[in-house]
Amino acid sequence: MLNGTEKFRAMKRRGEKITALTAYDYPTARLLDESGIDIVLVGDSLGMVVLGYKDTTQVTLAEMLHHTRAVARGAARALLIADMPIHTYDTPEQAVATARQFIEAGAQGVKLEGGASHVAQIEAMTSAGIPFMAHIGMLPQSVREEGGYKVKGRTQSEAQALLADARAVENAGAFSIVLEIVIADLARQITEAVGIPTIGIGSGEHCDGQILVTHDLIGLFPWFTPKFVSPQARVADEIRRAVRTFIERTRGTARM
Ligand code: KIV
Repeated sequence: MLNGTEKFRAMKRRGEKITALTAYDYPTARLLDESGIDIVLVGDSLGMVVLGYKDTTQVTLAEMLHHTRAVARGAARALLIADMPIHTYDTPEQAVATARQFIEAGAQGVKLEGGASHVAQIEAMTSAGIPFMAHIGMLPQSVREEGGYKVKGRTQSEAQALLADARAVENAGAFSIVLEIVIADLARQITEAVGIPTIGIGSGEHCDGQILVTHDLIGLFPWFTPKFVSPQARVADEIRRAVRTFIERTRGTARM
């Protein structure tokens, strides 16, 4: 039987779609796991949807490790991947040291943002036996330099660079590649060009799998929902309803 990350290549070969969602705490991880999700990602989207930061650049390693430990207690079956926060993988040595901390915290692999520019870090981690998921396309940790969350792959040069990134991370030992907000036709080309699975977010239907921020999927962060998400629940509305009912009932029993 194939285990760990090998199973995802096999799923790609068989044309079976891979499902991935984020979790940042024990109950969510357990619910995703019990529902049959393939991959649970402790994304650094944690910073925005849980910690209330403006973007992911403020997330610290200590915060990510803390939440990874909680998720590890809840995810018994799914593969658990953790995001390495910005500036925790500036050199190959730092990348390996950071990745080891995530493995100790219960992750089974790590993800960082970058392609050809980070081959040295990726090779150092995969040579050390640490399963690695790549992330190319729109890179949220670069949102400040980029001036927003922009679609990637519109120009010929951007498309060529992304194809080169995908090949570079595959050669460096990545077991899968997240493609974030890449135009659908390019996501299809990348998916066909590499042997490892692509997991898309806002990158169309041709990827080998799909990943979403769980808060977006279940309507738990109602103040902002990316255009490409169709929420499947309205959990924020349910929370408001329950809280209002509690307030009304409690106030209704006040002594006059
Ligand atoms: O941080 C995150 O949640 C992510 C996914 C959106 C891919 O990187």
